Amino acid sequence: MVDWTPAGAEPVLWMSEHSRLDTTVAIRGGIPICWPWFGAGLRGVASPLHGFARLSEWRMVRNVADDDAVTVTYLLVDAHQDKFDYPYRLTYEVSFGRKFSAVLTVRNTGIHRFTFEEALHTYLRVGDIRKISVVGLDGASYLDKASGHEIGPHQQVGDLTFVEETDRIYQTTADIDVVDPSMGRRITVYRTDSRDAVVWNPWVDKARAMSDFGDDEWQTMLCVETGNVGQHAITLAPGKEHSMGFTLRLSELS
Ligand code: BG6
Repeated sequence: MVDWTPAGAEPVLWMSEHSRLDTTVAIRGGIPICWPWFGAGLRGVASPLHGFARLSEWRMVRNVADDDAVTVTYLLVDAHQDKFDYPYRLTYEVSFGRKFSAVLTVRNTGIHRFTFEEALHTYLRVGDIRKISVVGLDGASYLDKASGHEIGPHQQVGDLTFVEETDRIYQTTADIDVVDPSMGRRITVYRTDSRDAVVWNPWVDKARAMSDFGDDEWQTMLCVETGNVGQHAITLAPGKEHSMGFTLRLSELS
């Protein structure tokens, strides 16, 4: 998923001008789907990073338009069984209208239970990362990953603002507002069945180190990822399914 621009608004999702739109690397922007693990996974050794779902070719199976929205459904079934031993069926339903929503449903189609992590790695477009604030995380516990290791838990005090590389897993189910005075708007992220929100901006040095990320592009993006990772990994019994998703709404700042 690479963009959502409601009528009369500026684009809400962010996409790097350097993103490679092929299947060898994940897109750098939009909403890559991290599954069946996040980062290097629960044991810290999984490859590729963030799982294979974001590198896989999903099949579009449904496309429905009504007066309010266009809803598109994609499927991924049993891809990369060399990296994940269990049969599964992933359904991803996205809906574009005045609001945007995305729901990932994982079904265990096999005879053994399995455990997975998941994240919808949403890149949001902002006017200037140094001027925004993220509201809704006050009091939440988080793990700080900016050093490359998970440090914490820490506790968020007040709103989150950005002065350096930020890479945190917030353990919260709260709604999150990205308040953006430069663009005169607020993006609200409402999450469903997601116990973690990952907040990421690579800042100067990491942006420079990534070949698919422009040197200055960190200034206009922020990832707010909807997920269940680490201790919130999901275990699914045979025949069961689990859905997680989020809705984005845009509002003007008064
Ligand atoms: C975030 C992680 O979800 O994704 C960061 O918390 C990571 O640690 C970032 O750097 C980007 O990952 P990738 O694999 O798309 O470069």
